[in-house]
Amino acid sequence: MLLLLLLHLLILPGLTQTAPTPPNVVLIVSDDLRAQVNVADFFANDSGLPRTSNLESLAKSGHSFNHAYANQALCGPSRNSFLSGRRPQRTEAYNFVDSFRDVEGGENWTTLPGLFKRNNYTTVGAGKIFHPGLPPDNDMPYSWDDRMSDGTWESWMYPTEDACPLKTSWCGTDNETDLEDFKTTQQAIKLLDNITSTEKNSPFFLAVGYRKPHLQWRVPNRILENVPLESVSSPASPDFPPSTPPLAYHMPVDDFLLKFSDVEQCGSANLTDPATAWFSESCSRLWRRGYYSAVEYMDEQVGIILNELKERKLEDNTIVIFFGDHGWHLGEFGMFEKFSNFEVALRTPMFIRAPSLVTPGGLTTAPVELVDVYRTVADLANLQIPANESSSIDGESLLPLMQGMKDDEVRMAFSQFPRCLDGKNYADLPLSSDDRNVWNVYNDGDKPSRRHEITNLPEWKLSNCNEITVEGMDWMGLSVRTQDWRYTVWHQFGSEGINWEAAIGGEELYSYYPGDVDIFRSPNNFENVAGDPVNADVVNELRGYIEIQWNK
Ligand SMILES: *[C@@H]1O[C@H](CO)[C@@H](O)[C@H](O)[C@H]1NC(C)=O
Ligand SMILES: *[C@@H]1O[C@H](CO)[C@@H](O)[C@H](O)[C@H]1NC(C)=O
Ligand SMILES: *[C@@H]1O[C@H](CO)[C@@H](O)[C@H](O)[C@H]1NC(C)=O
Ligand SMILES: *[C@@H]1O[C@H](CO)[C@@H](O)[C@H](O)[C@H]1NC(C)=O
Ligand SMILES: *[C@@H]1O[C@H](CO)[C@@H](O)[C@H](O)[C@H]1NC(C)=O
Ligand SMILES: *[C@@H]1O[C@H](CO)[C@@H](O)[C@H](O)[C@H]1NC(C)=O
Ligand SMILES: *[C@@H]1O[C@H](CO)[C@@H](O)[C@H](O)[C@H]1NC(C)=O
Repeated sequence: MLLLLLLHLLILPGLTQTAPTPPNVVLIVSDDLRAQVNVADFFANDSGLPRTSNLESLAKSGHSFNHAYANQALCGPSRNSFLSGRRPQRTEAYNFVDSFRDVEGGENWTTLPGLFKRNNYTTVGAGKIFHPGLPPDNDMPYSWDDRMSDGTWESWMYPTEDACPLKTSWCGTDNETDLEDFKTTQQAIKLLDNITSTEKNSPFFLAVGYRKPHLQWRVPNRILENVPLESVSSPASPDFPPSTPPLAYHMPVDDFLLKFSDVEQCGSANLTDPATAWFSESCSRLWRRGYYSAVEYMDEQVGIILNELKERKLEDNTIVIFFGDHGWHLGEFGMFEKFSNFEVALRTPMFIRAPSLVTPGGLTTAPVELVDVYRTVADLANLQIPANESSSIDGESLLPLMQGMKDDEVRMAFSQFPRCLDGKNYADLPLSSDDRNVWNVYNDGDKPSRRHEITNLPEWKLSNCNEITVEGMDWMGLSVRTQDWRYTVWHQFGSEGINWEAAIGGEELYSYYPGDVDIFRSPNNFENVAGDPVNADVVNELRGYIEIQWNK
């Protein structure tokens, strides 16, 4: 009895308080951001570049994930996946054509912003959140409350900016008010003004989508001048690994890149000819400098948003989550852009700040996936996953990891990427022919290049499947990352799904043991050890996880 009374006294003050205010959410997504930000030195860095002090302060006041992986290294599919909380294998959106709304049942799925909307949050966004057109109209009205945007923007959410003079891929400008990410920040501030205005008192979900470091790399001159070319290194592993199957490769240039005038000039060869497509080393470094400058500019914009939250005294009740939609090759393995299952293309920085719930400065090194974002943010905001969708929403809440819970089970991150070879049978392609030209990556020596052997095949020009729907796809690379390994297997793929019976197109196994291999600085040999008999058990085990994941 006394105990009950005591309990009653202890509990009573809590009961008399009003229900806690639901937290606001600010979701910030950067485009093409590889995991190269110099945060608290636990990310690999390249001469300390790029400098990202605002992300660093977010990391220090929040929680970092330094092994966060996109489920597919392409904007449309990745955003379709993490915004719907479903893996690409469920959204069946692997390209720039399909969206999760087209798949059977997908029309009724509740997206992440849609979940907040259903819970009476004001849900608004500025910049690139959904990939343009995927789904149509930025998923209005299901995901967002209101357009609340500058009516002049393309598709209402995306600002535009002028092209660089002469349409180069990178340039400096003094007109910062014209930069699209500047406009996105300004719009986000206007939205904050609106949703925190006195006549509204609902909590908000604000999504802010930055375009940088996506091309073009048009940045303020003051930033470009502060990234001296001498401080930028060349890619550490510019050659396609000798033992890696060609299906893993993607052409360093495509139609998108060829729209930039310097791309053709930059190459020491005719870049529309896949046989010799490559960039000179000096151009490669210029590109890296453009990319780093764009990262630094994007970081500044994040800082402005964080500061707005602080000045509006919203910091203590606002969950902030930041990540990139996937990574980017900056010359590694003979590739630019994404379009692969390699670490550099899949891994992206991720930070979550949930002031009331977790200890600041935490770090999770276990692999996590962008598809986990949905359940994590719902969990942090204390929202229920809709019961009728709990079996189709993939991923797991990362909250236990953020609270320091040791993860006993082995965490894994699954990713995939299709290949389109114009219907050609891979086995028939003359990959082992003697037609191996001697052609160096940087055209400054006599080293034979494996890349040349592969890019000789015109089919590789289309290998990314951007505009090709499932019926026209030929291969699917299925990939799993554990703490110690990345394993990828290439299966035939098409409208019937994965063809488990047909001969595989290759296997890859890369070791990250012991500790973490610095993917940005490691020397030239990222060796595929899948064929080494010593690794047979590992290969079998990891292949088993893939077969379960993709429902063999
Ligand atoms: C990052 O770069 C700085 C400056 O070059 C260097 O001092 C530091 O050791 C690097 N950190 C890592 C993790 O490589
Ligand atoms: C689940 O139920 C909600 C609320 O009735 C509905 O809006 C949503 O479309 C349903 N989802 C599916 C997949 O049927
Ligand atoms: C799913 O969406 C369709 C079309 O909008 C609607 O007719 C149907 O009632 C929805 N089903 C559920 C279970 O919400
Ligand atoms: C949302 O607001 C409506 C109208 O005030 C109310 O009926 C409904 O219960 C609210 N839903 C939630 C999840 O709070
Ligand atoms: C907020 O935006 C809505 C929709 O555009 C608009 O109707 C309303 O007037 C705005 N409120 C403020 C305070 O700006
Ligand atoms: C700077 O950009 C703004 C916004 O796009 C534009 O209105 C203005 O004309 C530009 N100024 C100059 C000097 O080019
Ligand atoms: C570059 O190669 C393409 C494809 O082989 C060819 O059509 C084009 O004429 C070449 N351009 C130059 C400038 O050599």
